[in-house]
Amino acid sequence: MTDITTLIMLAVEARNKAYAPYSGHPVGAALATLDGGAFSGGNVENAAFPLGTCAEQAAIAAMVRGGGREIAELVVVGPGDGPCPPCGGCRQRILEFAAPDARVHLCNERAVLKTMTLGELLPEPFNTDDGD
Ligand code: THU
Repeated sequence: MTDITTLIMLAVEARNKAYAPYSGHPVGAALATLDGGAFSGGNVENAAFPLGTCAEQAAIAAMVRGGGREIAELVVVGPGDGPCPPCGGCRQRILEFAAPDARVHLCNERAVLKTMTLGELLPEPFNTDDGD
């Protein structure tokens, strides 16, 4: 399993290559899969603002491209020293490939600031099995 220090390094690398000229808020995400893979991505903004994509989305796309399917843990690093929690949409995107006990680490360049499970970040998620 990829260690947290490596995931932080991958997320910082991705953040440093993010494309965020409109918000000035580059974000990097790196994830480890249950089978030992590691993937990362940064946000990519667009002049047509709603078309911008999040760092978590890029990391998940890289994972799927690499054949990965099950996220064990995920690191998010924002531009500053404080935590950068995933947006609501990304919580749902992560859930598509992760169990509620998967760990999400909110980090800066140097350390883990806070660790939460996906279930804590997204209680009562949308699920097509519900409401039938
Ligand atoms: N952003 C992410 O990359 N991940 C999140 O979970 C929250 C927001 C990006 C989107 C946008 O490019 C910038 O941060 C400011 O919202």
